[in-house]
Amino acid sequence: MKSPFFRGRMRISVALLLIGGILLLASCVPSAEDPILSPRLGAVLAQIEADGEIKIEPTAVPLRLVDLPAEQVNAGLPADFATALAAANPANATTISLANGCVGCHNMDPSVVATGPTWYNVADTAANRRPGESPALYLYTSIVDPSAYVVPNYPDNIMLKTFGETLSQQELADLVAYLLAQHTP
Ligand code: HEC
Repeated sequence: MKSPFFRGRMRISVALLLIGGILLLASCVPSAEDPILSPRLGAVLAQIEADGEIKIEPTAVPLRLVDLPAEQVNAGLPADFATALAAANPANATTISLANGCVGCHNMDPSVVATGPTWYNVADTAANRRPGESPALYLYTSIVDPSAYVVPNYPDNIMLKTFGETLSQQELADLVAYLLAQHTP
């Protein structure tokens, strides 16, 4: 049998434990002034970074093909290909892409899931893929050397790497002219 004295001690210990627990919990309640927990964290950090002066970076606006002057659309192309592109007929591209299986992996409808990226507005896409590379050069390189730049979330080594040899310069130019025509108005 435990003595009443012992039971009294026990009750005090339990009470002390409870009070301790409550105090511990209370100390965990976040303070709104604490910069790490404050909803103003972003602004506070920006202010610290900018040394008291808050700077807001503008969001990058994607380039559109129509905003580029012609020389920036074609910049950097090999001279012979630039000549072929100037004489290209985009209307031939449907036949060329059917004959070479391009349409098996690429689709004009952006809602269709395909093996390769959509060709919907692909000229605008091309203007933004590699900063500093012209859309025509990007498209040309994507066809003759698909691994030069691998589109995020798409597999490398799926698209044939031989179109640069199997297609004539004029066929390549017709394809690029056609792809360059796919853009927002
Ligand atoms: C077997 C499937 C397949 C075939 C056939 C194919 N491609 Fe592709 N293509 C891909 C894949 C996958 C990618 C993305 C990976 C990469 O960047 O290499 C791609 C990327 C591209 C891109 C870059 C698109 C972008 O959004 O940046 C172009 C342009 C392109 N292909 C053109 C062609 C042309 C033109 C043909 C036919 C002559 C062709 N492809 C045939 C699978 C294919």
